[in-house]
Amino acid sequence: MTEPFDVQAACRWIRDQWRELGRDGQQDWSEVRPDVGIVLGSGIQFSEGALTEYCRIQVRDIPGMPSPSVDGHGGEWILGQVAESMVLILGGRVHLYEGYDVEEVVRGIRVLAHLGARGLILTNAAGGIREGWNPGDVVAIEDHINLQGVTPKLHKQTAAPVRKQHPCFDHEWIDRTEQWCRKESSKGAVQGFPRGVYAGLPGPTYETPAEVRMLRKLGADLVGMSTIQEAMTAVDCGLRVQGFSLVTNLAAGMSGQQLSHEEVMETGRRSRGQLLKIVNAAISTFDPAGSGIRP
Ligand code: HPA
Repeated sequence: MTEPFDVQAACRWIRDQWRELGRDGQQDWSEVRPDVGIVLGSGIQFSEGALTEYCRIQVRDIPGMPSPSVDGHGGEWILGQVAESMVLILGGRVHLYEGYDVEEVVRGIRVLAHLGARGLILTNAAGGIREGWNPGDVVAIEDHINLQGVTPKLHKQTAAPVRKQHPCFDHEWIDRTEQWCRKESSKGAVQGFPRGVYAGLPGPTYETPAEVRMLRKLGADLVGMSTIQEAMTAVDCGLRVQGFSLVTNLAAGMSGQQLSHEEVMETGRRSRGQLLKIVNAAISTFDPAGSGIRP
């Protein structure tokens, strides 16, 4: 059994930090409400200039928050601004395969919701299953297949099934993001906007070629080891959710090559620019004040 998590205490601690960190710059950030949370996948970071940074805190210092053991997941949360939106970047995602249980995996999302965010953008590294996709492609997740063997204990869970979960990913917001990308693509900024179904497995091993054939038959286009529990929790907390996979490799058995974490990280580093442009589009189309989506 893991220790019970006090989400309010974690939020109080974060706001105290934001107050302290703002002192030098004479700005008190403690009352700020982030509009959108962003979870970045393996090897993906915002480049300088894309984000105006206000406060940075170490995940390991946040009371009760698990911190990552995997190479490439920076363990920091950054409060900052992208375009007109206040964003909270949740670095330091933890995974089931690190031995954390599902309640620990989704703690950051619960904190984000408690801090008042209305939207969440999830990103991940994934293996591409759909024929024709290549490493470096960015795919909007339109639905998921949960093969992780667990689901988060949703707050409102009663004896009856929780209904408002199908699909988790917000198609109105995805459509709006695609429109924005198409407008930008005439300037050469974003190429294409494929959509696909993400299958989440527990890991930590990559799939076998036979499993990848099975996943294709089940209707999966992408395979990874994260995202699903976070998306389900966010929807339960009333957040709008979008998710994007960066295809870092062809899924096992599709290329004749062995998969490696190094390859995943390397493609993540090389291709993060395209992913971040699309994340930017998602942020720009989110309207925390109105219906949630900018007209
Ligand atoms: N399988 C599972 N998870 C992954 C993969 C994959 O091929 N690539 C990146 N994360």
